[in-house]
Amino acid sequence: MQPIVRFGNVTKRFPNGVTALNEVNLEFFPGQVAVVLGPSGAGKSTLLRIINGLESPTTGTVSVGDLAVTPANHRAVRKRVGMVFQQFNLVPRLSVMANVLCGRLAYRNIWTSLFFTFPASDFELAEKALAAVGLGDRAWDRVDKLSGGQQQRVAIARTVVQQGAVILADEPVASLDPATSIEIMDILVKIAKETGCGLILNLHQVDLALKYGERIIGIKRGVVQFDSKPSDLGEDQIAALYAA
Ligand SMILES: Nc1ncnc2c1ncn2[C@@H]1O[C@H](COP(=O)(O)OP(=O)(O)OP(=O)(O)O)[C@@H](O)[C@H]1O
Ligand SMILES: [Mg+2]
Repeated sequence: MQPIVRFGNVTKRFPNGVTALNEVNLEFFPGQVAVVLGPSGAGKSTLLRIINGLESPTTGTVSVGDLAVTPANHRAVRKRVGMVFQQFNLVPRLSVMANVLCGRLAYRNIWTSLFFTFPASDFELAEKALAAVGLGDRAWDRVDKLSGGQQQRVAIARTVVQQGAVILADEPVASLDPATSIEIMDILVKIAKETGCGLILNLHQVDLALKYGERIIGIKRGVVQFDSKPSDLGEDQIAALYAA
């Protein structure tokens, strides 16, 4: 199977001298739920941000499908890569529908962006995506009137209409209560399975990682410490990951 995301010996060094990633080699596959674990500052967010070009590697290469992630390819890359954040990153005063339609902007021209005139097919996609996340009846509510869990569902629907190859989720449940976290994780995994796109999540909660991850990647000080199925992972490996 062809990987959807590939890291070839990626090192990321920031101008302040911090090495956030150190010679990382990883491949991610369609429909696979991969969870990245590691202590604060390990390089988890940098790993995700490099996939959609929000950061560039200092050395090494990253590709999404057959496309190299380079500044010249950013627009094409971002079409293929959806992103879900801890703080949802929605446009507060717009409707739920308008926020979901933002996921179609990469497919549309400048006039659509300026005047927000989307074709009927985009509205149909958005309605389907909202139904899939259980918000079919909230399309015309203002998004900032929704609860945190509901807002995260809108953010997920926005990635669904993007019809990309991979969804990146950086601490998607860190701002949510435990029951809502489970709902959001269930939805993310269901969408990965139904659409066949890859799902790469950064999580702080080891219990959620073991419950949902088909593959757990441990990162510490920018170096991959392990990359295993949850069933092959020992408690000692997890303890060592978080040990100072
Ligand atoms: N723009 C930047 N400039 C300088 N250093 C940075 C920048 N972004 C991240 N870093 C540093 O790179 C390292 C990795 O950061 P990163 O945000 O990837 O960690 P993380 O694993 O996501 O941590 P957390 O769990 O706290 O979110 C940290 O030492 C961080 O301070
Ligand atoms: Mg982070």
